[in-house]
Amino acid sequence: MHVFNLAFVAASVLALQAAGQSYNETLYNNYNYCQGITPVAKQTYQPIAAAKLLKVQVMMRHGDRTPTAVLPGKQVDYDICSNPAELTSVGGNSKTQSPLLKPLITITEDNPFADIFWTGNCEVGQLTDRGQNQTFQVGKDLRGIYVDLLKFIPQFLDTSKLYVRNTYVWRTRVSAENMLNGLYPLPCRSPGVEIEMDTFPETIETMTLNTACAKGVSIYEAFIKTPTFLNFYKQNYALMTKINTILGVENIAQTNETLNGDTLMPRYCNNIPLPCSATNSSDCITGDEAAQAIAGTMFYAHGPLRYEAGAEEAKRLTSGPFLKTLANGIRGTVNGTSGVKPFEFYSAHDATIDQNLAVIADPDTPWPGYASTLILETWELEANSTTGAKAGDQVVRALFEGRVVPANPNLNCTLDACPLDTFLSFIESYVPADMMSECAM
Ligand SMILES: *[C@@H]1O[C@H](CO)[C@@H](O)[C@H](O)[C@H]1NC(C)=O
Ligand SMILES: *[C@@H]1O[C@H](CO)[C@@H](O)[C@H](O)[C@H]1NC(C)=O
Ligand SMILES: *[C@@H]1O[C@H](CO)[C@@H](O)[C@H](O)[C@H]1NC(C)=O
Ligand SMILES: *[C@@H]1O[C@H](CO)[C@@H](O)[C@H](O)[C@H]1NC(C)=O
Ligand SMILES: *[C@@H]1O[C@H](CO)[C@@H](O)[C@H](O)[C@H]1NC(C)=O
Ligand SMILES: *[C@@H]1O[C@H](CO)[C@@H](O)[C@H](O)[C@H]1NC(C)=O
Ligand SMILES: *[C@@H]1O[C@H](CO)[C@@H](O)[C@H](O)[C@H]1NC(C)=O
Repeated sequence: MHVFNLAFVAASVLALQAAGQSYNETLYNNYNYCQGITPVAKQTYQPIAAAKLLKVQVMMRHGDRTPTAVLPGKQVDYDICSNPAELTSVGGNSKTQSPLLKPLITITEDNPFADIFWTGNCEVGQLTDRGQNQTFQVGKDLRGIYVDLLKFIPQFLDTSKLYVRNTYVWRTRVSAENMLNGLYPLPCRSPGVEIEMDTFPETIETMTLNTACAKGVSIYEAFIKTPTFLNFYKQNYALMTKINTILGVENIAQTNETLNGDTLMPRYCNNIPLPCSATNSSDCITGDEAAQAIAGTMFYAHGPLRYEAGAEEAKRLTSGPFLKTLANGIRGTVNGTSGVKPFEFYSAHDATIDQNLAVIADPDTPWPGYASTLILETWELEANSTTGAKAGDQVVRALFEGRVVPANPNLNCTLDACPLDTFLSFIESYVPADMMSECAM
C-alpha cells in the first residue's frame, strides 16, 4: 500500500501540473485518496491553549465504495461488501447487525441481466467493508479527541449535545451509523435511546450541488470548454484513450470522454487487479495510470470551483446554502440559542467537503479521500498579552487531512485561529440571499 501511496502522490502532481496547477507537497505529502486522515488525540491533535471549545462541526466523506456506474463487460468480482446491513439497532464496539434481519445483496449467474453487472456481493455505489471500518475508525478518533481528551461532549451519549445529518444515500447513512458506533459504542448508550439522523429529501438537498440550480449545473458544463480544461484534456488524451480502450468504452460517448477514475478506484483501493484488455491480456492499466486517472477524474469537479471566470459564482451556487447552515450553527451556539447542539456531524460526499474547501482553503487542497473529515472548531480565548488576544475573543479553527487548513488568499486570517467575525462574514458572503433567483438561467 505504501508504494501505491507514493505512486499516487507522484501521479497527483503530474495530473495537476498537466492541468497547469501547482501542488503543495509540503502540506500534503501523506495524501492518499483511498484513506482520508482524521486527527488523533495527543498525536496529531492539539487543542488551542488557554481557550474554551464552544462548537464542533464535522463533515465526513463516506468510506470506500464501489463505482457509481457499471461499465460494459463483466471484468471484476467485487466481493468486498459482506455487511450491507444497517448497523443502528445494536451498535457497540463489535459491529453487530440487527438480530432479526439479515439483508443480502444477491448476484447470481442465472440472473437474466448477469452479463451487464459485476459479480460478488456489492450494489452500485455501496460502502464496502473497508469503508465501514474507515468510518467506524473516524468515530473512535473523534471520541478520543472530543470525549476523552477534551470532555467537550460527555462519555455517555446525550442526544441534546449531538446533531447528525446525512444525505439520502445509503452509503452516507451507513457511514454515519459506523461513525456513531465508534463515537458512542453500546456501553456508552442507554438502552432505547434513539439518535435522530436528519436527512433532506434529495430534491431539496443542500450538501452538494442541487441539480435544480440550473445556473450551477451550467457552470460545470461550461468548464469543459475552457482553456484550463482543454489543456488538461489534451495532456490526458493518451491515457484516456488507453484506459477507455481497455475498459471497452472507447466508442461510447459520455464514458469515453473521461478518465473513468471512479471505475478504477475500488480496485486500486482494495488491491483488486486492475483491468486488462479483453483481446490482449498483457495490455493492462498500471497502478500509476490508475492513480493519475483518479486524480484527473476529480478535476472535472474540483476545477470549476477554482479556475476560470465562473469559479466565484460556482462556489456560491454549490456551497452557499450549506455554508449558511454552518454559520447559523455557530451563531446559534455562540449566542446560546436554545436547541442548537454543540457537536454537529454531517455524513456526506467528497463534493461536500471540496465545495467548502474551495471557499475557505488554499486552492491547492487535494480532493477529499474516503472517510476524510473537515472539522470546524469555534473557540473562546482567554486574554494573552503575547498574542494580543482579549478575554472572550472567539476564533474558528479548520482542520482537514489531520492538520490546519491553509487559508484561501481572500480570507483575511489563518485558519489556526480565524477571528469569528472574519470567518463568518467571509463564508456568509458566499450565501445567496435568494438562491432560486441566482440559480435561474
Ligand atoms: C506550501 O505550503 C507551505 C506552508 O504553508 C508554504 O510555506 C509554501 O510556500 C507552499 N509552497 C507552494 C509551492 O505553494
Ligand atoms: C499566550 O500565547 C503564546 C503564543 O501562542 C503561548 O505560548 C502562551 O502559552 C500563551 N500564554 C498563556 C498564559 O496562555
Ligand atoms: C474491518 O475490521 C475488522 C475488525 O477490526 C477486521 O477483522 C477486518 O479485516 C476489516 N476489514 C477490512 C476490509 O478492512
Ligand atoms: C471518444 O469517441 C469519439 C467518437 O468515436 C472520438 O472522436 C474521441 O476521440 C473518443 N475520445 C477518446 C478520449 O478516446
Ligand atoms: C499486448 O499488449 C502488450 C503490452 O501493451 C504489447 O506489448 C503487445 O504488443 C500487445 N500484443 C498485441 C498482439 O497487440
Ligand atoms: C449574537 O447576537 C447578537 C445580538 O443579536 C448579535 O449582535 C451578534 O452578532 C450575535 N453573534 C453571532 C456570532 O452571531
Ligand atoms: C484583516 O485583518 C487585520 C487583522 O485582524 C485587520 O487589521 C484588517 O483591517 C483586516 N483587513 C480587511 C480587509 O478586512
